[in-house]
Amino acid sequence: MTNDISLYVHIPWCEKKCPYCDFNSHATSASKGLDPILERQYIQQLLVDLDRDLETHAIDSKVDTLFIGGGTPSLVSAGGIAELIAGLKARIPFTETAECTLEANPGSSDRDKFSGYRQAGVNRLSLGIQSFSDHSLLQLGRVHNGRDAKTAIAAAREAGFDNINLDLMHGLPGQSPKDALFDLEQTEDFAPEHVSWYQLTIEPNTAFYSAPPVLPDEESLIEVDEIGLEWLQDQGYRRYEVSAYAKEPNYRARHNLNYWLFGDYLGIGAGAHGKISGHQQHKMITRTQKTRVPQHYLADPSASLRRLDRAEIPIEFLMNALRLVEGFTPAQFESTTGLPWSTLQDFIEEGTKREWLAFGGEHLRTTSTGFIFLDSLLLLI
Ligand SMILES: C[S@@+](CC[C@H](N)C(=O)[O-])C[C@H]1O[C@@H](n2cnc3c(N)ncnc32)[C@H](O)[C@@H]1O
Ligand code: SF4
Repeated sequence: MTNDISLYVHIPWCEKKCPYCDFNSHATSASKGLDPILERQYIQQLLVDLDRDLETHAIDSKVDTLFIGGGTPSLVSAGGIAELIAGLKARIPFTETAECTLEANPGSSDRDKFSGYRQAGVNRLSLGIQSFSDHSLLQLGRVHNGRDAKTAIAAAREAGFDNINLDLMHGLPGQSPKDALFDLEQTEDFAPEHVSWYQLTIEPNTAFYSAPPVLPDEESLIEVDEIGLEWLQDQGYRRYEVSAYAKEPNYRARHNLNYWLFGDYLGIGAGAHGKISGHQQHKMITRTQKTRVPQHYLADPSASLRRLDRAEIPIEFLMNALRLVEGFTPAQFESTTGLPWSTLQDFIEEGTKREWLAFGGEHLRTTSTGFIFLDSLLLLI
């Protein structure tokens, strides 16, 4: 296959497991960095994993977006990230303008480390702030406080990052609409290019699921949504996905846009997912997943492969594309799924009848009511 692709690299360790988190992340005793021997072994294994993927899927594409996510990638030293990126580039070419993002936690970051990441080729930093309120951070089981969060953002700017995303969560236990707005307002001094503003969800297999905290009621959540959106818009952000806001279109997360538009990507690292499609007329779309447990992955980074049935493809596409404010075009649907636009005919008819879907020019998009009923909309497929 020859189109540009994305590459996801998973780092499966964190200083401590957060009670709301269902990502493949495991507590490690190291607070500021991984054990150097473990770090080296893991990076070597990531490269073996990539070699195998390139061979299995006969890939001759270039990487247009790299996302080093976790877990907590900022537990990896700057030297480790440099070794990793050099190893990746030795195996698969990157486009000249490739977006290279690294996820960092305020608790395990400082300016020198950030400078090292930049020198290693990282050009976009995503900081897991969640909240600036010490009280909320404590309830979320975070290892950093509000001041650490601000220090980390300032350090990222000092290290020269000019494309920064801040992850914030709202709908937190005991959080009033005013508290949620306070969190957004704290970002103003730093003017991040991108904000991901997630509503806290209680996921199975998390500590919050076993012992649920009291969350704000529906009315409060709707108010938070309204005032937050208004504040972000006043600051010049435009919402382009359910939880994603960018100052300019060129600051949209290209890596995530590729997921949302059903593009292909390789996923390396413990538990990482990938999606590869053949380039035959009838696409054969394969989902890949690597061994989840870090120790097992270190022993053998094997992958499980699952070929999607034709019948599964529309829902797989729509689950992501309907999250986009601009929606998608028939050409995007047909080129990534290999299916004719008419496959969606009944779905479009029913969705537009309920005013959950609308056409804007060439694009089919979810309406504002549709966003509220997104789960029900997907059930129409
Ligand atoms: C994969 S996490 C990793 C980020 C980083 N380790 C951190 O926590 O700072 C990416 C983001 O997902 C969001 N997130 C994780 N669990 C969530 C949940 N249960 N509900 C809403 N957002 C969540 C958080 O904002 C988090 O920063
Ligand atoms: S630091 Fe991030 S990845 Fe790690 S447990 Fe917390 S939310 Fe999950």
